Amino acid sequence: MDREFTIELQPLGRRIRAGAGQSVLATAQSVGVELQAVCGGVGTCGQCKVRCVSGNLTEPTLEEFEQLGEAGIRVGSRLACQAVPLSDVQMEIPAESLTSLQRVQIEGGGQCVPVDPVLPLQELVSRRPILGLAIDLGTTKLAGYLVDLESGRTIAASGRMNPQIVYGEDVISRIAFANKGEDGRRQLREKVIEALNALATELCIEAHISVDHIFEAVIAGNTAMHHFFLGLPVGQLGTAPYLPATVEPLYQSAEGLGLRLAPNAKVYTPPNIAGYVGGDHVAMLLGIDLNRRPQPTLMIDIGTNTELTLCADGRLFSCSCASGPAFEGAHIQQGMRAAPGAIERVRFEAGEIQYYTIDRQPPTGICGSGILDAIAALLDANLLDERGNFRKQASGLHAGKHDNEFVLAGPEQTESGSSIVLTRQDISEIQFAKAAIRAGIEVLLKLANLAGESLQSIVIAGAFGSYLDMRSAVRVGLFPDIPLERFRQVGNAAGLGARFVLASSTARREAEQIVERIQYVELTNHPAFHEQFVKALSF
Ligand code: FES
Repeated sequence: MDREFTIELQPLGRRIRAGAGQSVLATAQSVGVELQAVCGGVGTCGQCKVRCVSGNLTEPTLEEFEQLGEAGIRVGSRLACQAVPLSDVQMEIPAESLTSLQRVQIEGGGQCVPVDPVLPLQELVSRRPILGLAIDLGTTKLAGYLVDLESGRTIAASGRMNPQIVYGEDVISRIAFANKGEDGRRQLREKVIEALNALATELCIEAHISVDHIFEAVIAGNTAMHHFFLGLPVGQLGTAPYLPATVEPLYQSAEGLGLRLAPNAKVYTPPNIAGYVGGDHVAMLLGIDLNRRPQPTLMIDIGTNTELTLCADGRLFSCSCASGPAFEGAHIQQGMRAAPGAIERVRFEAGEIQYYTIDRQPPTGICGSGILDAIAALLDANLLDERGNFRKQASGLHAGKHDNEFVLAGPEQTESGSSIVLTRQDISEIQFAKAAIRAGIEVLLKLANLAGESLQSIVIAGAFGSYLDMRSAVRVGLFPDIPLERFRQVGNAAGLGARFVLASSTARREAEQIVERIQYVELTNHPAFHEQFVKALSF
């Protein structure tokens, strides 16, 4: 066996090369991805359990049969210390097999939201406490909040990765998977229902209460996640004009959907705006009170798909941009999601490149905010030109395997002994992602007849947006060049909006009215989009 293969580790989003005959565990450890391995890799502790999603591995060993059982092996479970790739493989790492968990942004424990009961609370008082569950159902992450429906207080909050990620990192690949037939759709639905039940249980354990006290749930997701959750057809979301199966707010039985909550509990899903702007965006607009802002305000949630809404003169314009997964570290040679060891900040200090990693761990890769910082720093130091090419005299530059590479961390600084570099190809990936978003912004500004400088506020929601350095974002041209104090990073506003909608029938009506007011723009058809996109590719 002398071939090297690629191992894709999900949900971390890391792609690593396995040396000939090297186990999944050894390969993961060589790049600093720490799996539990109490027995040191001899196959007796069972802690390095992973699941093979696609590709071929060596036959299961006796140790694997012993630790995982035939049933486990049948569903793809393997021990990372025993399994050796025989082809490119995709592996799923359950959270319990990782020694450190990926950063999943959750905030809002203890926070209160206004109460205007949706449920007839007086009929339920003998079952106090009366709780509700609000979920922000993201493509990558799920955030869950347990809310006391009498006081509006959030009594527990938690997050986890969306387990559908093993069927595709972005919405488009999951839609393609679902379209393989009934089975694809069923698997996607089952995965998310299982995760939501586990999240509800985890929140109730944290609050020392039974799930039987959850009488109402609000699930706010983008349109595709909403459709996967409800088992609606998604084929039409994959082709123009990208029509949702429904945009209506829906109210359904939790039990009928497979959620284990109180008997007769109901689930509300806020209305969608369009095929790529869903109820989570509506929740976010509520969360930041966008429609009551008198000054021109732009609201952005950056992700693999980026949703934008511009509020100007009482009008609301929305669009969505296919920004791709580069900001989450995918398609970047040494990219990774925001997890311990990811380079998240890069600066030039006294002519030397300086970086900072999450949790100050030795560097194992670079995440989205680090990549934008690195590009901004290289531009400031005049080591990159406006088209994204390295200038020949750039110090720190060396000829890599395929292209020029800029060394961010030398081999002596990493545990794997390999440098962490930024390649010309990485820069191109970021150029495409930021150009898609910037072009979307410019099209909305044109519709509202506004110049970028007139924006009084740019509100950035979502996990990636929270860790972004605004100076770098403006420097690379992701956003219009307005004073930095006009930017606001608000974290998970969709999670807050979902809680508003959960606890208040007024907020629920408001959500429905927002959708009626919004003018949605399909960017792919818009005559100005292409020109703006090409313009925005430059730095
Ligand atoms: S490391 Fe103990 S079983 Fe794999």
